Amino acid sequence: MKIKTDSRLPGAHWKGIFLLLCMVPLGAAAERAALIQDNVAIFYPDDFDAEANLPSFALLEEPEEMGALPDDWQTHVEFSSAFGQSLAQVKVDSSTNLYGGGEALSRLLRKGGSQILWNTDNYGYGRDDGAKLYQSHPWVLAVRPDGSAYGVLADNTWKQTLSMSDDITFSSEGPAFRVLVIEGETPQEVLATLGDLTGKMPLPPRWSLGFQQSRYSYVPESRAKEIVDTYRNKKLPIDVLWFDIDYMDDFKVFTFDSEMYPDPKGMNAYLHQNKMKGIWMIDPGVGIDEGYSVYDSGTELDVWMKDAKGEVYEGEVWPGPTVFPDYTQQKTAEWWSELYQDFMAQDIDGVWNDMNEPADFTGPDGSVPEDNVHAGGLRLTPNGKPLPADSHLRYHNVYGMLMVKASRQGISDANPNKRPFVLTRANYIGGQRYAATWTGDNNSTWEHLRLSVPMSLNLGLSGQPFNGPDIGGFIGNASPELFGHWMAIGAFYPFARAHSAIESDDQEPWVFGREVERASRIALERRYRLMPYLYTQFYQASKTGVPVMQPTFFTDITDTSLRGEDRTFLFGPDLLVVPKWADKPSMPEGSWRVLSLVGENSLRDEFQPDLRIRDGAIVPAGKIIQSTDDYSLNELTLFVSLDADGNAQGQLYHDAGEGYGYQNGEYALIEFTASTSGDTVEISADKTEGNYPVEIGQLQIKLVTDDGVKIATGSYGEVIKIQP
Ligand code: GLC
Repeated sequence: MKIKTDSRLPGAHWKGIFLLLCMVPLGAAAERAALIQDNVAIFYPDDFDAEANLPSFALLEEPEEMGALPDDWQTHVEFSSAFGQSLAQVKVDSSTNLYGGGEALSRLLRKGGSQILWNTDNYGYGRDDGAKLYQSHPWVLAVRPDGSAYGVLADNTWKQTLSMSDDITFSSEGPAFRVLVIEGETPQEVLATLGDLTGKMPLPPRWSLGFQQSRYSYVPESRAKEIVDTYRNKKLPIDVLWFDIDYMDDFKVFTFDSEMYPDPKGMNAYLHQNKMKGIWMIDPGVGIDEGYSVYDSGTELDVWMKDAKGEVYEGEVWPGPTVFPDYTQQKTAEWWSELYQDFMAQDIDGVWNDMNEPADFTGPDGSVPEDNVHAGGLRLTPNGKPLPADSHLRYHNVYGMLMVKASRQGISDANPNKRPFVLTRANYIGGQRYAATWTGDNNSTWEHLRLSVPMSLNLGLSGQPFNGPDIGGFIGNASPELFGHWMAIGAFYPFARAHSAIESDDQEPWVFGREVERASRIALERRYRLMPYLYTQFYQASKTGVPVMQPTFFTDITDTSLRGEDRTFLFGPDLLVVPKWADKPSMPEGSWRVLSLVGENSLRDEFQPDLRIRDGAIVPAGKIIQSTDDYSLNELTLFVSLDADGNAQGQLYHDAGEGYGYQNGEYALIEFTASTSGDTVEISADKTEGNYPVEIGQLQIKLVTDDGVKIATGSYGEVIKIQP
């Protein structure tokens, strides 16, 4: 087996932005517009070529037109072309705030910003100063001062620049493209409509909300077992261990190195005995090696991407000379899915698809040439039109999305009764349908810790709720202080995984000394205690498209002083996370009382962010557990914070945590209410939906007031009374 060092270097490439800045629109093209829902308009340039644009990757289905736009429709799109580029532009009022654009190296507010939508292996975010990252979301969420909002979606996969200098401009290297505009009374409403149009994150298995530990790479397997044992011995809650490329035989995907991992099934069994899961990496690049079954079967079926001359394109990734599956073909997708049969039979729990921009170390700009050719033929939906053959320039940004679509299918086919889990590095808007995501190769620096909050927020505001950065930072070495702070807020990312690079020192919570280990334990215990609440938030996101991690301004969309706040953030709508390093953040109105979950006093703690509960909220919390395997509603605690009228509400979603029974009614939705009459607060719980058994038994109430916490206990099903 080979272990290489990582030498991907940043370069500079400002062509897209430069072109855009010098661009004078030459001749505006006429538009045609129609309503496709009461609050959604579609705009077509007059030279729209359906063959060059459709089928849509973003939209679940081809929209049906309902008629002309009403006269008072506010937001219009202008099309033009210049210097061979196709432009779409939306005028933006100076007082309107802009968000979104998916994964971007940016503060939360996007006005003045620009990014190139061209999925790029961007090591340390250094290439082009981070102007292009791993994913493409041609989407902007605009929020007016009164809280009403609109969203602009360019239904365009081609290489493009998204500029929010003043107006919103998409400038594409491809043909003229159509644009959708969603109007809403609130940003949440716009996001819900975006979810209806592009699809929502499917409800993930509950274990994937647990904490996860990774590194490049844990080898040999004895080292992986040591990590498992240490987590368990030190009582640091955890659910998942990750296996990076060095488990493979010479980086050949779907193989195992016979020395490092002679018994992958045994390794997974070890994890399962320890109430953990294993997620193993699969990259798209297939090493060229006759006699290697994946290479041989792919060659026989003719699945590889071709160059402009029609020859199989050869690039270079970890295995050395590499070919790349052309996932635009039906046969490639089926072959790829099929490969997961034997792989998942090693009792693997989840899959990590990486390097799927695709990264190519020797190709132009770190990827494969733009004039490579894709054969097409795949139907994105059973009744949809097949993808036409076209250039890589058209399909580059959806290469990762097509890969994870086929991976997800393969994992589901192998384990039809389990909810699949796939993590992807590259994706495109709508890709939340197939995979969760992380924000690639960040640095172990304070700058990237701070930036991780707006990056995750803007991804959530672009339709992808299940995301997070490498906790601790990937490249370089975190100081104990940085790691402690990163774990402390990392417990509140929707996807919570620590990961580090091959050259980095060990980066597990215990290597930084007792203080940081303790801080990590408190952080993880806080996350695990909140699991009933967190799972409920994931359920809501899967239903509504509204993200789990939300910007602070969602507390009051009319309070414009909160619009740029991106150090604090919401963990679901009811908990505000205020990091220690947030210097004088803009705080929302209301009581927002500090919550202590596991005996911590965040006001006096060096690392733990304050966790503030919204007044009027009831937050369900469980016991401190070491793994979601031990999840139960036994000994449920309700944290209650009354509003000024003495009322509060909350919700709990419950199901088996795995499988699809919930789609047939095997779930329970429980509503909690608190109301005050005289000097007594009455708290009750009602199951409102579903037929899954609820075994709550004893219920503890913690009434969080300005004068401390009042405690009462009672049984589920009876009204519990407490004197504030
Ligand atoms: C890429 C991934 C990183 C992984 C490494 C080796 O850099 O972004 O997470 O550890 O490849 O597989």
